[in-house]
Amino acid sequence: MGKNIFSGVQPTGNLHLGNYLGAIKNFVELSNDNSNSCIFCVVDLHAITVHQDPKELKNNIRETVATFVASGINPEKNIIFNQSKVSAHSETAWILSCIARMGWLNRMTQFKEKAGKDKEKASIGLYSYPILMASDILLYDSTHVPVGDDQKQHLELCRDIAQKFNNDFKVNNFFKIPEPLIQNEFSRIMSLKDGLRKMSKSEPSDLSRINLTDDKDQIVNKIKKAKTDTLPLPFKDDDLENRPEVKNLFGIYSSLISSDLKKTIKDFSGKNFSDFKEVLTEVLVEKIVPISTEIKKLLNDKSYLDKILSDGSKKADEIASKKVKKIHEIIGF
Ligand code: ADP
Ligand code: TRP
Repeated sequence: MGKNIFSGVQPTGNLHLGNYLGAIKNFVELSNDNSNSCIFCVVDLHAITVHQDPKELKNNIRETVATFVASGINPEKNIIFNQSKVSAHSETAWILSCIARMGWLNRMTQFKEKAGKDKEKASIGLYSYPILMASDILLYDSTHVPVGDDQKQHLELCRDIAQKFNNDFKVNNFFKIPEPLIQNEFSRIMSLKDGLRKMSKSEPSDLSRINLTDDKDQIVNKIKKAKTDTLPLPFKDDDLENRPEVKNLFGIYSSLISSDLKKTIKDFSGKNFSDFKEVLTEVLVEKIVPISTEIKKLLNDKSYLDKILSDGSKKADEIASKKVKKIHEIIGF
């Protein structure tokens, strides 16, 4: 049976190789299966949990749509929209915040990481962020949610909220319990400068990541400067232990060519680092430059991107507002 797919990406700029390999590549594959029904949301309400410059936010919303389309998601066959245009998301988030428990939210590790040392100064939105994410997912009866490894805990919270709502109001199966779809092997792409840190859009050094808008020269330069070590290339799996940077570059390569780590190790054993980096650069240029060129082309056609969003929002609103109506009836409004 086909799946109801839903996922979201924050329009906070600098979409990178980690977003692509951890999430967007998977979106494209799922959307190419005609038996699935797919919704991809630009989660602008999530973005404002930390301050965003309004002009930049507007550009970043369009850039996220352009990235979806340039990566291969067909806007005619799938729903692409921005969260703020469908009011059901914020409304349901309030209702679900009366279902979710403080104790559950207090366990969320992403809040702890993002809020940093001074939790008192974090916005309330940053804290309740996973409840809004649960609304996104539950409004569309989503059965499967493709995300990177870092979102696993939020998905578990969403399942708990759905179950508690169904139990509290004795509406068995009203909210569908969604399954996360997380790629096993390369679900966490690390920084090119530090193999123990996630590749991230918020990392100040641009050399730490390959952006999906990078051109050939930038990719060549970043891989040349990517951190490695002085040991020979690995001969077997164990040789990658305690070598996070090498493991990450091998992972990136394997994921890009849809292969596995074992085969990559075999293919490069006995070769030099410079040989490997050369092949890695070639594969990256081949995959990323066409996407980057297409993103830039699409960004010149703002009205096309805006139309994708407004068409998508209409379709999403039709589905979500029906679900909200039922929620109202169940609650007694
Ligand atoms: P970020 O985590 O960089 O702020 P988003 O929150 O917009 O980016 O994430 C969009 C999607 O990309 C999510 O599914 C997330 O799990 C995935 N993702 C983000 N960074 C990485 C990474 N370094 N490796 C793998 N997946 C990632
Ligand atoms: N929280 C997700 C992230 O930071 C983005 C997101 C918001 C999302 N709503 C979602 C992902 C619903 C999947 C489903 O990456």
